[in-house]
Amino acid sequence: MNNVYKTALITGASRGLGWALAKILAREKWRLILDARGKYALLGARLLLKTTTRVAALPGDVQDETHVEALAQQAAAWGGLDLVINNASTLGLSPQPALLDYPLESLQQIFRTNVLAPLSLLQKVRPQLKDNARIINISSDAAREAYAGWGGYGSSKAALEQLSAILAVENPQWKVYWVDPGDMRTQMHQEAYPGEDISDRPLPETVVPGFLPLIHGDLPSGRYRALELIPQPLFHEEA
Ligand SMILES: NC(=O)c1ccc[n+]([C@@H]2O[C@H](COP(=O)([O-])OP(=O)(O)OC[C@H]3O[C@@H](n4cnc5c(N)ncnc54)[C@H](OP(=O)(O)O)[C@@H]3O)[C@@H](O)[C@H]2O)c1
Repeated sequence: MNNVYKTALITGASRGLGWALAKILAREKWRLILDARGKYALLGARLLLKTTTRVAALPGDVQDETHVEALAQQAAAWGGLDLVINNASTLGLSPQPALLDYPLESLQQIFRTNVLAPLSLLQKVRPQLKDNARIINISSDAAREAYAGWGGYGSSKAALEQLSAILAVENPQWKVYWVDPGDMRTQMHQEAYPGEDISDRPLPETVVPGFLPLIHGDLPSGRYRALELIPQPLFHEEA
């Protein structure tokens, strides 16, 4: 597929999964609108990608409505969006407290970043979303499994999943995917397991091929596990 004129907006693209997705889309010549709070890491990411494709790097916090408006304006300036990946997210406190001990202010912060900010972004880019655009909201197995200590982050991802499911039925003109990427060796994962050796977890780059069927294919809106979508090599049995 020729992606020369396709544009993707990825939040939280300076490291981890967002960065891995930005790299693969840059190789496919997508124009990229990227954000993250840390200005220097984001501009460093842009510097690495801009020899391959056009990149707009807008530092800011997805909780900041003015910043989200600026992302939408960039999308308008580039003639609309084919893909939005709501990837930026927070774990909350590290180590994660049990729910009955969780400071409510921290929980509000988690829900603002992981639930309200993705919806706010979609509200603001709505006029820029082309028919058949894809929306990928990054979720987690913690949205489904009741892991002790994961009540804050896990319930926010559960809310993001239900929000995604309703968006999907309300907007059949788009494909809405909510995706569990699986465990990955990233800063957030290290925060979830402070002091533990996480070197056995796969790098985000190994998971990214599982996103390509959602980006390029025609799968129906729904929940997917990226690991299950990674194309498997074909083996030819010897006679
Ligand atoms: N790692 C795992 O094992 C795992 C498992 C399941 C699901 N996930 C999900 O995968 C996604 C990516 O996580 P990751 O592990 O790649 O995390 P990560 O390595 O910590 O990267 C997070 C990215 O998001 C940016 N970010 C964080 N808060 C932001 C905010 N408020 N506004 C704008 N940008 C923000 C970070 O940059 P700044 O800090 O500079 O803003 C960074 O670029 C998340 O949705 C996460 O919930 C991860």
